[in-house]
Amino acid sequence: MAFVPNLEREIGLAAVAEDHRVGGSTPRFYIETYGCQMNFNDSEIIAAILTKHGYHPTEDFHLADLILLNTCSIRENAEQRVRARLGEFHAIKRRRPGLLIGVLGCMAERLKSKLLEEEHIVDLVIGPDAYRSLPALIAQAESGQKAINVLLSREETYADISPVRLASNGVNAFISIMRGCNNMCSFCVVPFTRGRERSRPPASILREARELFDLGYREVTLLGQNVDSYRWEDPATHTVVTFAQLLAQVAAISPKLRIRFSTSHPKDITDDVLFTMADHPNICRYIHLPVQSGSSAVLQRMFRNYDAEWYRRKVDRIREVLPDCALSTDIIVGFCGETEDDHQKTLEMMDYVRYHQAFMFRYSERPGTYAARHFADDVPDDVKARRLQEVIQLQNQHQLQRNREQIGKIHEVLVEGPSRRSANQLAGRNSQNQMIVFDAGQARKGEYVFVQVTGCTSATLLGTLSPTSTPSTN
Ligand code: 5AD
Ligand code: SF4
Repeated sequence: MAFVPNLEREIGLAAVAEDHRVGGSTPRFYIETYGCQMNFNDSEIIAAILTKHGYHPTEDFHLADLILLNTCSIRENAEQRVRARLGEFHAIKRRRPGLLIGVLGCMAERLKSKLLEEEHIVDLVIGPDAYRSLPALIAQAESGQKAINVLLSREETYADISPVRLASNGVNAFISIMRGCNNMCSFCVVPFTRGRERSRPPASILREARELFDLGYREVTLLGQNVDSYRWEDPATHTVVTFAQLLAQVAAISPKLRIRFSTSHPKDITDDVLFTMADHPNICRYIHLPVQSGSSAVLQRMFRNYDAEWYRRKVDRIREVLPDCALSTDIIVGFCGETEDDHQKTLEMMDYVRYHQAFMFRYSERPGTYAARHFADDVPDDVKARRLQEVIQLQNQHQLQRNREQIGKIHEVLVEGPSRRSANQLAGRNSQNQMIVFDAGQARKGEYVFVQVTGCTSATLLGTLSPTSTPSTN
């Protein structure tokens, strides 16, 4: 499986200052999102569908007539968090029996009607391909019947729906270019929860990107579980658009629009994509290339379709074509049968690549996957924890080294907004996706500025605005 960084974040919505059904007339929904950026983008599609049907968003669940949890199944703890949250909503539902509670997304798809049996406060269960049926299912639930739709589709891409941008900074936005996943990584539940892979028509992607640019957005991230297998065939002309071609078309919208994409599968990313990046300075020098493990034996059991040597050669090739390209990764420690020697190979791989960023997880067995059915989850918890700690520690060292190497250099930064720590400072990222915090000066959100790096932590670069308008080469 190829993936976007798993942020597991919760999304609040801007409150709308109007009356509501809890004492008013306009029904309100509250949505909380767990999991990946694709799921976050799905919540924006859900918000668009609900808004069209007369619902308004609220960021305060006490004011909501409808509470939705858009859930993730990737690891057991993602599901546990949702169940704990449902527990917290019990008291509110007891006080307000008219309140509807829905579980959407991957956990809904995985557990289906079992969720209704296990979690009595849930009224709606809706899988990732069934969001268009939300209004009908809400009507059914309002009449007192539990409502469920977990049908997966081979066609649904929500291509015609313009997402309502939630919790947006007005600078960065996500665009889903495909859905589902045809890889069958043995550890991964996603093919079961998100179904078969399908690509969205390029015209609708380009329309959405242009609309965002016209609204002032300056960075779009093209999302898919495996973007390199994006493929659209025009039904009339049979002309095919590949991911590399799509990238070039989005990049042509404006040199002022930055393009990112996620996730690339090491076995699928092509030279065409690398050359397209090299041709377009506005396609960011950053590739999320999950390795999962540095041991070929483990990779084979994971059904990743590459070995460690092949992955290293891919990294070399990326650096040959794009010398200034940053790489990030996902790593799973403690997969079935992982020995101490396998673990060392993962650390060696990290030393070889020196990733700019890494998302690191301990293996969590997911019911129904190939690994759950055929391999023993045999690495003890304390060993998984220790290996994870070692991987995190090494990654911190690499990030700190990489950030220190930037001191004195000048970077072009897209300003995203105030820094978290101080209103006098702004934060933004360079093309390599490194966060840079600097004194605000005259700079504004959505502008490109040049910043000279003066210091760093392992997570962030610190700098000052530079009068020079030429970035240093990395
Ligand atoms: N256990 C732990 N981590 C997992 N991932 C996917 N499935 C599992 C699992 N069963 C990780 C992979 C993937 C990222 C999004 O989540 O590293 O790339
Ligand atoms: Fe995203 Fe679903 Fe995978 Fe979670 S299980 S990371 S929500 S695709």
